[in-house]
Amino acid sequence: MSKEPMILINHPLVQHKVALLRDVNTGTKEFKEIVSELATLMCYEATRDLPTEEVEIETPLATAKVHMLAGRKLAFVPILRAGLGMVDGMLALVPAARVGHIGLYRDPETLQPVEYYCKLPSDIAERDVIVLDPMLATGGSASDAITLIKKRGAKTIKFIGIIAAPEGLERLQKNHPDVQIYVAALDDCLNDHGYIVPGLGDAGDRIFGTK
Ligand code: PRP
Ligand code: URA
Repeated sequence: MSKEPMILINHPLVQHKVALLRDVNTGTKEFKEIVSELATLMCYEATRDLPTEEVEIETPLATAKVHMLAGRKLAFVPILRAGLGMVDGMLALVPAARVGHIGLYRDPETLQPVEYYCKLPSDIAERDVIVLDPMLATGGSASDAITLIKKRGAKTIKFIGIIAAPEGLERLQKNHPDVQIYVAALDDCLNDHGYIVPGLGDAGDRIFGTK
């Protein structure tokens, strides 16, 4: 399948919800709900190329040829913590997907990701994987998470983020050119602390109310 460097999902509903997330006055409850809603909208776009097969079913009136999902099953892998906020929104559309977890935190001094947890479905090599993290800043966390998933044998991997910085996008594309990247916004730059500008602040803290 040919692949675009990055797919920007700029549907009006997505743009509106990203604007609400950016607003410093949006509180934890609303922030968490909007992250989940965005995940659902982005899941719809990121699954656009899933294969289907024609099957025959009985409606109450007649026999009908219909199209149903076929092919490999899905796994969603949120990067802890902030990626957790996207899981329910994804499962709303694909409830049969398995969920793995990768725990990474960024060292505040070096900005390098540090792994502290990895639990993936045992059959991850047979699944198409979608990695979830609202923020693609330096790109270190997403790159390392995808490296871990590839080491377990997964072949088809997508990444869904909400806001990306150019630096993170470039790093992820360079380290994993095979991974289709979906984002809702591409921002200007990173600041000296590795935060996306204008961004939305610390996604994990805003989802879980830890600041
Ligand atoms: C945030 C965010 C990403 C990462 C992005 O997590 O959720 O995982 O930073 O930055 P990067 O692209 O430069 O790696 P953080 O390390 O703050 O951990 P948390 O989600 O547990 O707060
Ligand atoms: N992590 C966040 O949560 N926000 C940023 O802007 C950068 C990394």
